[in-house]
Amino acid sequence: MTQPDIITVEHISKYFKNQDALKDLSFSIKSGEIFGLLGPSGAGKTTTIKILTGQLKQTNGSASVLGVPIEEINESIYEQIGIVSHNSGLYDKLSVYKNLEIFTRILNVPKARINKILKQVGLLSDRKKIAGKLSQGMRQRLILARAVLHQPKVLFLDEPTSGLDPSTQIEIHRLIMELRDNGTAVFLTTHNMEEADKLCDHLALLNDGKIVETGTPRDIRLRHNKKKQYKVLLKNNQELTLTQSEETTQKINWWMTSNELVTIHSCEPTLETVFIEVTGRKLI
Ligand SMILES: Nc1ncnc2c1ncn2[C@@H]1O[C@H](COP(=O)(O)OP(=O)(O)O)[C@@H](O)[C@H]1O
Ligand SMILES: [Mg+2]
Repeated sequence: MTQPDIITVEHISKYFKNQDALKDLSFSIKSGEIFGLLGPSGAGKTTTIKILTGQLKQTNGSASVLGVPIEEINESIYEQIGIVSHNSGLYDKLSVYKNLEIFTRILNVPKARINKILKQVGLLSDRKKIAGKLSQGMRQRLILARAVLHQPKVLFLDEPTSGLDPSTQIEIHRLIMELRDNGTAVFLTTHNMEEADKLCDHLALLNDGKIVETGTPRDIRLRHNKKKQYKVLLKNNQELTLTQSEETTQKINWWMTSNELVTIHSCEPTLETVFIEVTGRKLI
């Protein structure tokens, strides 16, 4: 069964005074899907999230979140969406638990939900700790916990793992995938191509306010796999990169039958390579 679209964006543009920040963006997101906007700094990722969450008005185009046109976004929709952004602060003087307790009142959520979500993000035994004393990774997990306290149908994450160490990134990824598996539509931005590749079901590559490629990470990589190559390791320790041809097929066949082949990998491009190919610039 096809899921209904949770977010639809049609021809959105945003002009700041002396800057075209977004140029004719169109895409849609379904429930239970992680959609990633991958692009370098200044591409327009935060501007897109701000427009979709009613914090900024688009210049042209239309979009809707959970069927509500973004011009009509108000308090009632905030009960159904969660946002993690760079300015998602915490009450640094209050405990982990208290930080969430305040929001159970604002969001009208039963208090029993606090321990449940703390357990999910691995902070249950830290619930009495003062928020200001948490490590960066714990802090980000608490911010994420707060954003999903009310079990939103849509979660907006603006570079959720930026600046975190690799093991904390993995923890945050696990949490995001868990939320996706429970049916949440996740819209995330990142400039990290490995994160985009691993985490996102669908991607849009954003450069200079323009979407330059879309699809599943695999589709995007394969679409740009023009020069098909294979890397092989042979028993005699020789490592070779071969371009697809009849001769290559014969060689590989021969190595396989004569048990000479130790490893073989196809060398499709990474998303970073695709990005450079399409835009001429790196993802930084
Ligand atoms: N309030 C603003 N006024 C003017 N220009 C802005 C404003 N916000 C963002 N921009 C510009 O729009 C472009 C996209 O910014 P942003 O969405 O923050 O990019 P990203 O999040 O991908 O790094 C940048 O060139 C930025 O300087
Ligand atoms: Mg940004």
